[in-house]
Amino acid sequence: MPSTLPLRPRIRDRRVLVLDQRRLPFDEVWIPVASAAEMAAAIRDMAVRGAPAVGLAAAWGMVLAHLAGEDPAEADACLRSARPTAVNLAHALDRMRPDWGDPKASEIRARTLWREVKRAERAIVRHGSRCLAGRVLTHCNTGPLATGGTGTALGAIVEGFRQGRITHVWVDETRPWLQGARLTAWELAREGVPHAVITDSTSAALMARGEVDAVAVGADRMAMNGDFANKIGTYGLSVLARHHDIPFWVMLPLSSLDARLATGEGIPIEERPQEEVRTFAGRAIAPSDTPFRNLAFDVTPHTLVTGIVTERGALLPPFDEGLLRWTAP
Ligand code: MRU
Repeated sequence: MPSTLPLRPRIRDRRVLVLDQRRLPFDEVWIPVASAAEMAAAIRDMAVRGAPAVGLAAAWGMVLAHLAGEDPAEADACLRSARPTAVNLAHALDRMRPDWGDPKASEIRARTLWREVKRAERAIVRHGSRCLAGRVLTHCNTGPLATGGTGTALGAIVEGFRQGRITHVWVDETRPWLQGARLTAWELAREGVPHAVITDSTSAALMARGEVDAVAVGADRMAMNGDFANKIGTYGLSVLARHHDIPFWVMLPLSSLDARLATGEGIPIEERPQEEVRTFAGRAIAPSDTPFRNLAFDVTPHTLVTGIVTERGALLPPFDEGLLRWTAP
């Protein structure tokens, strides 16, 4: 059975092994990564994905840069530009900066960051599981593969099932990379949680039939008023949940909060190659000259959010005061 951890540092070999999530759940393939540029490519090309995991990958990219004798400033810039939306990437690189030029210190720092991620997620799971009940719908993948820890929203869902509160999980397939169908379904099956994959457009019909009791998602970046970016389709779910009077929860570590942004308006939204939507399972789905648009994320306004869960607890509106308190030095 494949590992659920996205990275395996092999520092004595001057390598970090990256689990190629594009191949899951069918093949377990580990990519040996030996430089910051290679780690940036693994992040950009989606071998490693999910906001907290991308942050950890970037931190280990800096460790590799030191071991390979690369210029730290160039390595930092290369990793920083790999993907724009998840703020965890920039936060992890900011944390690595004081150790530039010191391979040992940077390795210790990367391990510390990983421990912090795990600790934060255990708390998110504890708080988040108490907020959910019944049949829960989730989007994309927020489990251990996406985080390097226990997962955020998906970790809370698994724990809620263990405690007998959650009975079933609806898993959006999550076009175009199918993180829901490939990764979330696999992680839920491993945990023995009853679930079914649905096409992204099925959620409205299930809500109208009364078959969804709560929605729980993760986040790639949250502004200080609670607006947040997450996988494309999340915003639509929040509108649907409000229309059907269904609680809509977002669960994230504080490292996904961007204290410089007052609202979600300034969140950079990644646009990925058209090719990712033009083809399905390696085959074209439209005439070859058809233009496509591939927004990888959308922004959900805080007004559509029932509650926010972080390692500090569960927050109900108004969110701005609580978020400010949680991020105060
Ligand atoms: O494009 P991806 O697969 O990196 O997008 C991931 C998501 O949108 C997740 O929901 C988010 O990173 C939260 S992971 C805990």
